[in-house]
Amino acid sequence: MKYETVHDVTIPKIGFGTWKIGGGSRPDPKLDPVSLAALHSALEVGYTHFDTAETYANGHAEELLGRAIREMGVRREALFITSKVQPAHLKYEQVLKSCEASLNRLGTDYLDLYLIHWPRAGGKYEETFRALNKLVRDGKVKHLGVSNFNLKLLKQSQSLSETPIVTNQVPYSLSDRSYVKNGVLEYCQQNDILLTAYEPVNTGNLRSNKTLEAIAKAHNATIFQIALAWLVQQPRVITIPMSFNPQHIKENFDAADIVLTNEELTQLTNA
Ligand SMILES: NC(=O)c1ccc[n+]([C@@H]2O[C@H](COP(=O)([O-])OP(=O)(O)OC[C@H]3O[C@@H](n4cnc5c(N)ncnc54)[C@H](OP(=O)(O)O)[C@@H]3O)[C@@H](O)[C@H]2O)c1
Repeated sequence: MKYETVHDVTIPKIGFGTWKIGGGSRPDPKLDPVSLAALHSALEVGYTHFDTAETYANGHAEELLGRAIREMGVRREALFITSKVQPAHLKYEQVLKSCEASLNRLGTDYLDLYLIHWPRAGGKYEETFRALNKLVRDGKVKHLGVSNFNLKLLKQSQSLSETPIVTNQVPYSLSDRSYVKNGVLEYCQQNDILLTAYEPVNTGNLRSNKTLEAIAKAHNATIFQIALAWLVQQPRVITIPMSFNPQHIKENFDAADIVLTNEELTQLTNA
């Protein structure tokens, strides 16, 4: 596994996403067995970085993640857990309540990273950050970040946070360069902020092409692994693919160790 260190925090370059674990926007108990199997599989393979949110299966993804961690007997300190507060809960008391609920569902007394999941239209973030800063001071949250923030909002969040903004979690993949075009990636790289790439394999619909296929063949890897390797070889970029399939879960983890040449990186960027 490769790691990124910014400020005083070290994070595995590839973590495990939990959107669809336990349901979509609502819990779906029928999915519990496959969801728990996927989480067990991820922990067995060696993932230590998990990404979740209060909205995922309306909190049930957090419950299942907490349960899988307990069932596997993994020490809390060995893990890096991110969760997120939703845009409807950005008032002072709501943020504190949301965080407490996430901690209870996960069965932990702190989050490694807590993000604002989405900006709120016309949103002002002063009172949100008053609450987030308190959570850090109280030790309930170790680090703060944001998600889906454009450059202007990212800079605003930096000015309101008492501790460094550790990440902006945004869509980024071979198929989606919108946060390169809007300047967020470059700003993150220049300012010690991690860009956490979500939907890194384009929700499984990665567009293939001859370059990607040839590079995959040369490394005896899948196109999905090359797509992940391309992301994590970029400075300050980390990613959080999700899968229910044990083979994909292992392949995604192993993708961190694939070493692409500078020429291959350029070819993929330009393909
Ligand atoms: N902050 C936000 O607003 C936001 C938004 C979206 C997502 N996220 C986070 O980012 C995580 C990742 O995004 P995502 O889950 O939407 O998309 P993703 O990881 O790009 O794609 C997941 C899909 O790709 C397939 N897949 C994964 N690895 C594969 C592999 N090696 N080979 C073939 N297929 C593979 C999976 O199918 P199988 O199960 O069949 O492998 C699954 O259907 C989420 O789980 C969530 O934690 C955050």
